[in-house]
Formats: sequence, C-alpha cells, structure tokens
Amino acid sequence: MRGPRILLSLVALVTWVDAGRADEGHNHVLDTSQEGMKAIAKSIGVKCTHCHIAKTPDGKPDFSPMSPPKETAIHMKIHFVDSLKTADGGDVDCATCHNGVANFIPRGTEAPATRMMAGMERPAVMGVMKGFTKSLGVKCLFCHTKGDNGRMDPTIPTKHRTMARYMFENFTTFKRVDGSSPTCQSCHQGKAEFLPHHGDGAE
Ligand code: HEC
Ligand code: HEC
Ligand code: HEC
Ligand code: HEC
Repeated sequence: MRGPRILLSLVALVTWVDAGRADEGHNHVLDTSQEGMKAIAKSIGVKCTHCHIAKTPDGKPDFSPMSPPKETAIHMKIHFVDSLKTADGGDVDCATCHNGVANFIPRGTEAPATRMMAGMERPAVMGVMKGFTKSLGVKCLFCHTKGDNGRMDPTIPTKHRTMARYMFENFTTFKRVDGSSPTCQSCHQGKAEFLPHHGDGAE
C-alpha cells in the first residue's frame, strides 16, 4: 500500500525541481541556454546577430535588449510552437515550418502543375476568395493581376497567389489545442503582414 504513494511523492518532487530549474528565476519564453539558442539559430538558418542586433560598447553582441526579430521569435513560440500540433498530432517546433530557412514561403511566379480549386463550383471558389480577402484585409488584386485586356485574370500566377496557396496547403492542416484547424483568420487576423519584425524597415 505504501510503495505507490512514496513513488508518487517522488515523481511530484522531481517534476517540481525540474520546473524550477527550467525557470532559473527568469520568465523566458524560449530556451536561452547556449544549446537552446544554437538550436533555434540552426532551425531557422540564421546567425545569432540576426536577432541580437544590439552591441556592447566593445562591439560584442548584447543579448538582452529586445529587437523586432526577437519579438517575432517569441510570437512564433507562443502562437505557433506552443499552440499548434501537426496534422497527425505531433509536436511543432521552429524547424517544422522553417526547416533551416528564415524566409521559406515560396514566392515564385511559375504556373503550378495543378489548380488549387480544381473541380470546385464558382460560388464555392468565390466563398474561399472572400475569406482570403477578409482574413488578410486585402483586395482581390493583392493576389491577382490584370491580363492583357485590362481585366483581372485570376489564372495568372503572382507572388502573393503562390504564397497564399502555400499557406492554404501547408498551414491550415495544423491542429489547434481544441482539435480544430487554424484558418487564414486565426493567424492573420485581418492583416497580410503581422509579424513584429516588419517594424524595423528591414524588408
Ligand atoms: C530567431 C532569433 C534568435 C536567434 C537566431 C538567437 N536568439 Fe538568443 N534570444 C532570442 C530571444 C527572443 C531571446 C529572449 C528569449 C526569452 O526571453 O524568452 C533570446 C535570449 C538570449 C540570451 C539571454 C539574454 C537575456 O537577457 O537573458 C542569450 C545569452 C542568447 N539569446 C544568446 C544567443 C546566441 C549565443 C545565439 C546564437 C547561437 C542566439 N542567441 C540566437 C532570439 C534569438
Ligand atoms: C507554423 C509555422 C511556423 C513555426 C512553427 C515557426 N515559424 Fe517563424 N516564420 C513562419 C513564417 C510563415 C515566417 C515568414 C517566412 C517568410 O517570409 O518566408 C516566419 C518568419 C520568422 C522570422 C523572421 C525571419 C526574418 O525575415 O527575419 C523569425 C525570426 C522566425 N520566424 C523565428 C521563428 C522561431 C524562433 C520559431 C520557433 C520558436 C519559429 N519561427 C517557428 C512560420 C513559422
Ligand atoms: C490572398 C490571396 C488571394 C486573394 C486576396 C484572392 N485570391 Fe483568388 N486565388 C488565390 C489562389 C491561391 C488561387 C488558386 C491558384 C492556384 O490554383 O494555384 C486563386 C484562384 C482564384 C480563382 C480561380 C482561378 C482558376 O485557376 O480557375 C478565381 C476565379 C479567383 N481566385 C478570384 C478571386 C477574386 C474575385 C478575389 C477577390 C474577391 C480573389 N480571388 C482574391 C489567391 C487569392
Ligand atoms: C499558422 C499561421 C498561418 C496561417 C493558418 C496562415 N498564414 Fe499566411 N502567413 C503566416 C505568416 C507568419 C506570414 C508572414 C507574415 C509577415 O511577414 O508578417 C504569412 C504570410 C502570408 C502571405 C504573404 C503576405 C505578404 O504581404 O507578404 C500571404 C499571401 C498569406 N500568408 C496568405 C494566407 C492565406 C490565404 C491563408 C489561409 C489559407 C493563410 N495565409 C494562413 C502565417 C499563417
């Protein structure tokens, strides 16, 4: 009778000690250990100074001050890594999306091999398109362009059309904690660009 109870207390104690160690008295969102930071830099394919822009008077990186890329990294940890699961329920980390590349969303304008909404009736296509415009706070011509006759031709590939298709196919298949999948609106909330690092003017 006694054995299991002692074991349970031990488990509780170990868990508590572990939580204390991870915290180390700061309220960090990311793992700020040397290994943790190296792993983050590697999974998004950048150097420490991509995010740690500030320098000490003797020219070394000053790691503490906030910067727009640091804010973006924290946004991603809270809203993506900690709030999403892969389609089959696996954990999400920086590499799940980035796979070693900072700007990984395709931006090409070559024609795709297949049509995204092949077989869909016109009203259904329009429903999806209205959803896109509303969630990103843009007009049709943000993603589409005009053909030779001066009228919008949505069959012409554009950079933003390519980006939108990538998001549709790769990002709306994640699962949220409640089991539902994120929509364009859940991440974008009415804005095409919403990441903090756009604030620094370094596009
Ligand atoms: C993608 C952006 C990013 C990259 C790349 C990055 N860091 Fe960080 N780093 C952060 C953020 C954000 C924090 C603050 C995390 C927090 O408070 O939860 C941080 C915190 C730190 C801290 C703790 C600073 C403090 O105030 O306690 C150190 C030290 C650090 N990083 C070192 C490094 C080193 C060394 C590298 C390269 C191997 C690196 N970082 C790469 C974003 C980054
Ligand atoms: C759900 C997918 C997803 C996850 C998970 C994710 N990111 Fe991102 N991240 C993006 C997208 C999309 C962009 C914009 C990429 C582009 O412009 O091609 C981005 C951009 C960034 C940028 C800005 C790059 C630049 O241009 O300077 C940083 C920094 C970043 N992510 C850090 C992180 C870190 C750190 C993690 C893990 C804690 C992480 N991301 C996890 C989707 C993700
Ligand atoms: C955020 C980007 C985005 C916005 C905004 C957008 N679209 Fe689209 N649209 C797409 C993508 C992506 C496709 C599918 C492209 C493919 O098949 O690869 C598409 C396809 C279409 C198609 C089907 C084209 C075909 O190949 O048959 C029509 C019609 C269309 N859009 C009309 C509209 C209209 C009208 C609006 C404004 C109400 C609009 N779109 C707004 C991204 C967008
Ligand atoms: C899991 C979160 C997530 C979901 C879901 C998502 N996106 Fe995105 N999307 C991002 C991030 C992050 C960026 C980069 C934003 C930035 O640079 O500020 C981005 C950028 C874009 C861009 C480029 C914007 C620009 O101005 O460069 C387009 C277009 C886009 N998304 C379309 C869509 C569409 C359409 C949907 C729904 C089918 C969608 N996204 C769903 C996270 C998401």
